[in-house]
Amino acid sequence: MLHYDASSAALSGYFGRFGGRYVPEALEARLAAVESAFARALADPSFDEEYRHYLKQYVGRPSPLYRAERLSAELGAVVYLKREDLNHTGAHKINNTIGQILLARRMGATRVVAETGAGQHGVATATACALFGLSCTVYMGAEDARRQAPNVERMKLLGAAVKTTDAGTATLKDAVDAALGAYAADPEAFYCLGSAVGPHPYPSMVRYFQSVIGQEARAQILEAEGRLPDSLFACVGGGSNAIGLFSAFLGDEGVAIYGAEGGGTDVAGLKTAATLSRGAPCVFQGTFSYCLVDEAGNPVDAHSISAGLDYPGIGPEHAHLKEEGRVIYEPVMDDEAVEAFGILSRLEGIIPAIESAHAVAHAMKRLRGTGRLAIVNVSGRGDKDLGRF
Ligand SMILES: Cc1ncc(COP(=O)(O)O)c(C=O)c1O
Repeated sequence: MLHYDASSAALSGYFGRFGGRYVPEALEARLAAVESAFARALADPSFDEEYRHYLKQYVGRPSPLYRAERLSAELGAVVYLKREDLNHTGAHKINNTIGQILLARRMGATRVVAETGAGQHGVATATACALFGLSCTVYMGAEDARRQAPNVERMKLLGAAVKTTDAGTATLKDAVDAALGAYAADPEAFYCLGSAVGPHPYPSMVRYFQSVIGQEARAQILEAEGRLPDSLFACVGGGSNAIGLFSAFLGDEGVAIYGAEGGGTDVAGLKTAATLSRGAPCVFQGTFSYCLVDEAGNPVDAHSISAGLDYPGIGPEHAHLKEEGRVIYEPVMDDEAVEAFGILSRLEGIIPAIESAHAVAHAMKRLRGTGRLAIVNVSGRGDKDLGRF
């Protein structure tokens, strides 16, 4: 059995051999200050109280754990959906941005920079900044701004500046580069990172703020069914909604855990975002984790129909959980996700984000005819994806 001590991982910044902080010297002191501020906040009960207050009163938590009767009947299994799509702003991302922006305020920051892929983290950051009166600049790849246009409008309405970049594939990885550059150039800024990726303390901090998903889901399934689920499913971009759900169940041997990677169109041919299935250990964007690489070991671009999964890296904790064998990560192809997007809409009246549709497709493949009890994380709602497929 895996001996997994999340609290010491959070303090050390390492998950097994993965994690750490690989950044230029100029950023080292800034991130060390964020790390200390986060540690102080964790030790201060008033921080947690404030955070829980906004989750309840502003975000609308707890999100329901909904028993999906028609999907269950269709699959021959018992499927519960964790409804992160019902949060204010329509995705799990707000859990993390409320926490990080509260921390930014404690650190005295007045300017916030963020990256976004699908736009959900950008919207959630712009929302939290509006709530607390901070200035906000969101960096986004031009390709993502095109395919997630409704979220660009939302961010602007919320008072954020949206800066697009044409570098690389003009997707999430390029937005992270642009945001990190802006952060390095502005000593007064706070970087609100949207997934459990990047240099320490972000993977631990994002995990902490998203772990509310799993804590709630665990209590809710015990209340509804009187037992733990047989399996969990979540999509994995950088890995924040997934680790948020998984973290509460990692010590439960009987719970099988599955992560759905963005398979794209061709995993073997590298037209994919399936980092853990197809990639290799590598230092990328400030952390040691897995990354999609070419034959020479250099990072390559990712490909996925889903802007939120279209990232060649992955959070270091997921790399560790893969190598430990605790979580099974598998690619879900673009067309499978599009099919599941329609199926969940028609069977349950729930239009999922295309990212979340990867988790639904994965569950449909794994659960059919098994009679198993499962939780699928619906990480966000699909309004942003209407008219795309
Ligand atoms: C709705 C939704 N789900 C999932 C993701 C993937 O991110 P993560 O793996 O950090 O949860 C995104 C990213 O933008 C998203 O918007």
